[in-house]
Amino acid sequence: MSLRITALTDAEENSAGRRLVWLASDPDGNPVGRAFLRLFAKEGQRHLAELDVQVHPAERRRQVGSLLLDAAVAAARDDGRRSVIAQAEARSPGASFLAAKDFRPALALIYARLPLADADLPALTATAEAPHAAYRLTAWEGTVPDELADTFVASRRAMDDMPMGTVDHGTVVWDLDRVRAAAAAVAARGDLLHTVAAVDRADGSVVGFTELVVPGSGTGDGQHYGTAVLPEHRGHGLARRMKAASILRARAHHPGLGGLLTDTADNNPHMRRVNDELGYLPTHTAHEYQLDL
Ligand SMILES: CC(C)(COP(=O)(O)OP(=O)(O)OC[C@H]1O[C@@H](n2cnc3c(N)ncnc32)[C@H](O)[C@@H]1OP(=O)(O)O)[C@@H](O)C(=O)NCCC(=O)NCCS
Repeated sequence: MSLRITALTDAEENSAGRRLVWLASDPDGNPVGRAFLRLFAKEGQRHLAELDVQVHPAERRRQVGSLLLDAAVAAARDDGRRSVIAQAEARSPGASFLAAKDFRPALALIYARLPLADADLPALTATAEAPHAAYRLTAWEGTVPDELADTFVASRRAMDDMPMGTVDHGTVVWDLDRVRAAAAAVAARGDLLHTVAAVDRADGSVVGFTELVVPGSGTGDGQHYGTAVLPEHRGHGLARRMKAASILRARAHHPGLGGLLTDTADNNPHMRRVNDELGYLPTHTAHEYQLDL
């Protein structure tokens, strides 16, 4: 089959980066596949690009994916990127494809889902509301309130030592503009960002947070983003408490929501245990693959 690869102009560009797109079409002009390449723009991640290739199931094993990949990898090289990452579910066509293209598995991720109808509300309430002399929980929707902004920004470094396997992920440097831009990006696509934070009673500073994104319709599944506690405040059960509070808020604010999705590195036993205890059920494993250019 003679294929045509067309680079599209994609308007999507935000503070996190820009996205290049290629469309593969057959000789009759029918689309048969596409590739997205995200070029990260944040300081600390400008060496990195993320690839997402999809070929129509009826058109696979005819080199469509290979041609799309070639175009995307060439663009990543031209842009001076050092690493291309891509994700595929274990034992899927994507995993075989990436391995055949010299990508190496760099991180295993366990995906899990909490069916909200089965959530143990009394146990979650007991966890979230257990009194603690040193910390209290707070919560907000959308952008961080002004009075917590500085310490919330500072608390983002709690993500820096998150287990990332051998992914060349870089270290993102956060400032208030970046935090506000991330919240604005969620709002701009019509979704809702819920944050629960742990506050040190001694000085009112944020020491940990958990973020949840809920579809604007309030139906379907919500997606957990990061959960992190500053190293000096770990070991006090804050991640468990914050996540329990986040589940309860999601239940209370969005009764039409079906479940909550989370993914955790397989070498992050602490977070996996928290998820298990709160009732998340593993759904599948995926790997983050990396190609070094
Ligand atoms: C992965 C995907 C893009 C591959 O597209 P494709 O057009 O079938 O890929 P190609 O025909 O170019 O395959 C190139 C090589 O990859 C390997 N490969 C691809 N699919 C494979 C499969 N299902 N099983 C084993 N090897 C496979 C083979 O070595 C193949 O060469 P060969 O056919 O000469 O043996 C396609 O299966 C897909 O859209 N999957 C869902 C999305 C996804 O997982 N994307 C990958 C992560 S970005």
